[in-house]
Amino acid sequence: MEQVKLHDKVFERYIPHAKIQEAVRSLALRVREDAGDRVPVFMVVLKGGMVFAADFAKYYRGDMVLDYIRVKSYSGTRSTGRMEWLIEPSEQLKGRPVYLLEDIVDTGNTLAFMLDRLAAYEPAYVKIVSLFYKPEAYRKDIPLNFVGMEIPNKFIVGYGLDYDELGRNLKDVYQLKA
Ligand code: IMP
Ligand code: MG
Repeated sequence: MEQVKLHDKVFERYIPHAKIQEAVRSLALRVREDAGDRVPVFMVVLKGGMVFAADFAKYYRGDMVLDYIRVKSYSGTRSTGRMEWLIEPSEQLKGRPVYLLEDIVDTGNTLAFMLDRLAAYEPAYVKIVSLFYKPEAYRKDIPLNFVGMEIPNKFIVGYGLDYDELGRNLKDVYQLKA
């Protein structure tokens, strides 16, 4: 499928599944090395991080614990800046190493909000693992610890990412057609 139509917009195939898998596998190896003897808590950021996290977990060779959070910050193809904490962590995080598994970091607003909220749980640390990163859109000073792929500031869907809830189940990543 070279093109898909979701709602009113057309998207073109942009990153093939195999290339995404390479990036996910490499992230899992790098994080494994970073975690050392620790048993990390992988905090999956729903909904978008779900597909990435499922593959990441399969590539991760070592003990780990999964937990989920959900923040809603987006409507349509633009970041709204408004944020809600819809699902909070269920694990005891105090003193534990936490890695946030994010599908994409765009402006960084969601990230800043989550890090601020997570600090209250007193984890040993929180490190950021993001499959995609749009450096041109990023507005924060917070360093990203692990990035799978840097991409231009264009809207993408697939592999967990949506356009108004559609497109998450696409195997490849598609870019909004100009
Ligand atoms: P930020 O707060 O601007 O960094 O946006 C982060 C969230 O917006 C991500 O977790 C995604 O849910 C969503 N998002 C940002 N860019 C895209 C995109 O290109 N496609 C789909 N969702 C996106
Ligand atoms: Mg979204």
